[in-house]
This record gives sequence, structure tokens and C-alpha cells, in this order.
Amino acid sequence: MYQQPDNKGFYGEFGGQFVPETLMYAVKELTQTYEEAKKDPEFQETLDYYLKQYVGRETPLYYADNLTKHLGGAKIYLKREDLNHTGAHKINNAIGQVLLAKRMGKNKIVAETGAGQHGVATATAAALFGMECIIFMGEVDVKRQELNVFRMELLGAKVESVVSGSRTLKDAVNEALRYWVATVEDTHYVLGSALGPHPFPEIVRDFQSVIGTEAKQQYLEVEGKLPEVALACVGGGSNSIGLFYPFINDKDVRLIGVEAAGKGLDTEEHAASITKGDVGVLHGSKMHLLQDDDGQVLEAFSISAGLDYPGIGPEHSHLYTSGRAEYKTITDEEALEGFHLLSRTEGIIPALESSHAIAYAMKLAKEMSPEESILICLSGRGDKDVQQIKERMAQE
Ligand SMILES: Cc1ncc(COP(=O)(O)O)c(C=O)c1O
Repeated sequence: MYQQPDNKGFYGEFGGQFVPETLMYAVKELTQTYEEAKKDPEFQETLDYYLKQYVGRETPLYYADNLTKHLGGAKIYLKREDLNHTGAHKINNAIGQVLLAKRMGKNKIVAETGAGQHGVATATAAALFGMECIIFMGEVDVKRQELNVFRMELLGAKVESVVSGSRTLKDAVNEALRYWVATVEDTHYVLGSALGPHPFPEIVRDFQSVIGTEAKQQYLEVEGKLPEVALACVGGGSNSIGLFYPFINDKDVRLIGVEAAGKGLDTEEHAASITKGDVGVLHGSKMHLLQDDDGQVLEAFSISAGLDYPGIGPEHSHLYTSGRAEYKTITDEEALEGFHLLSRTEGIIPALESSHAIAYAMKLAKEMSPEESILICLSGRGDKDVQQIKERMAQE
């Protein structure tokens, strides 16, 4: 029976709490609060209420008949996280964590964001529960995701543009952690992916597991068996771990995470932390990282702001080294093909992040039989990306 993390917050050798003394109090307080909340039926009821009535769960499991016929192989099923309120899976975790903040008596929220979806989700949850909210976002991402910056501001959040380092997600996490250290008394840090010091990877996984739990049930109802493959894109790893977790003990289900190969694995411009990285520590956790020979963290690159992170959640590192999950890569160009194909065949414009999963399914489906299925987490919708795509198409 799979049971991770251990009581010190490790997934095999990965994870842990590599934080300065000043943050120990906050992570301990959060660990205790979460342990209690997990066992409290009232907390779960409140969370379920907001997920159903506010977020719009459960999300459909859609059989993509046109895409299936086009690809000519395995059936493609899409778990429609793009249909959540605010347009991505990130809201599942944001609502859960803001409820935890309330439980701790904190009335201020800090978060980081890359693509802006987690920032929008957190600003939304903060507005809903009447909390002050500050979001750190790399300057590059502020430009790439202008629309989401405006959405956060409309929701009452303050967006801080981060100009250090690569001016993307990694640097936004640094700043959010720094801000949290200084304000920990009244502020909760809503981490947006299955990353960071324990208990964050566990909390985010648990709040996102609703994806896999629903999808498994829905798939069983339609097909009367389990899918052959569960597939999702991997940035920090939250939509993928949310899909994978309920299937981990089902050994016949292949779990496949898709990393961003950016401009190619033979270039330095990619975000393939498992495929090309080594083990190290970043943002309080031991995991696979893109780093140079001296252990300096390298900059990650992807066309998709949400995948542009040089590390990966510790549970993925564990699933990879233990052989339970596989990790593949898709380039920017391939992701764009996936983006256009899903838009045209099914009338669904996917997020660029999710397009990586679609693009890998385009390769995999052909190698499988029509009796088999690939269950894909469609993590978000592409509204946020259309301007970027338009500009790119105009340049070509
Ligand atoms: C739509 C969407 N999918 C996927 C991701 C990647 O994050 P994660 O790996 O945590 O699911 C993001 C991150 O911003 C996103 O916005």
C-alpha cells in the first residue's frame, strides 16, 4: 500500500523541510492545522460545498471522439479542469488553502504565480473570504500574461512584479517565501504547486486529488474498467499528482507526466527537470532540479509560463526513481500542434500547459489499440494564451 510522505515529510529520499529557522514555526503550525483539518468532517464539508457550488465541480470526463478518430488508436478521455471557475485546476488548491488560512486565524494571503492561473485562483479565493492578497510574479510572466495580471487586480489583489533572476516563477517563489518570513504572524502562503517544504506538497496533492478521484469513478462508470494510461503535464506537478494519486496502487495504469522540452533537450532552453536534472534542494524541498556542475540552479524555459520552473515536486521525484511513473518531454513546437489540433477537432482551446499533454497523447495513441484509453488531465483553458499565440502566428 502506497503511503507517502513519511512523518518527517519525505517521499523516499525526496521532500523534507529545508527552511531557515524563521520559517520553522510557520511550517509546523501549518502541519498541525492540516493534520487536524484532514480529520475534521466539518472542514471537508465546507471544502466540498465551495468546490461544488462555487468552483462548479464535478468537472466532466469528456470522451474526445473527434480527436480519437483523428489520431487512430487509443480512446482519448479529457478530464475537464478547464471548466472550473477561473479556468484551471489551481482553484481546487486555492480554496482549500484559504480555508486553512481562515482556520489558523490569518487574514492575509501571499502567493506566487507563473502563468497567472494560480494567482487568479488565489485572488479569487481571497476575495471570496474577505482576505488581503499579494501576488508575486516574475516580470517576464507579467508581460506574457497581461490579462491575468489585470484579472488579479480586478479581484482586489496587489501584483508585485519580480525583477530578480530569470524574472519567472522560480524568482516569484523566492520573493513570496521572503515576504512570508517577514509577515508570518497574520499571513498564509498559498503555494501553487506540489512543491516547497513539507507539508505543502502533501496539502496541494490532497486538494488536487479530487481530479483523479472523480476521473476514476467517472471512467469506471463509462468503461467498466480502469484506463491504460493517466497523462498530465508537469510544471511543479500539481495537476499531474492530483490525477495520479488515486491510481498509484492500480499498478496496471501507466502514469505519465509530460515535461516541457522548450526549444529542445539538446539546447539550454527547456524545463525538463526530471529528464535532464539532478537531485538537489530548492524552495525548501529535495527534488530533481536543473542545475550546473557547481549546483547552481539553472534557468528553465518553456513557451508556457506555467511549466517554466527548474524543479519538480518531491513526490514526482519519488514516483520517478521508484519506477511507478514515467516522465516524457514535449517541445514548444509539438505543444503548439497539440494546441491547434484540440481547438480544431473538439472546439476546446487548451492552455499551453495542457497542450503538452495533448501533444504527447498524439504520439502515444497511435501505438495503442482502440480498446485502450488515455485519460488526460486538461488542466486549464487557453484564453490566457491566445494573445501570445496570435503574436507568434503573426511572426511566422
Ligand atoms: C493551466 C495550467 N496547467 C498546468 C500548470 C502547471 O502547474 P502544475 O504542474 O502545478 O499543475 C499551470 C501552472 O500555472 C497551469 O496554469
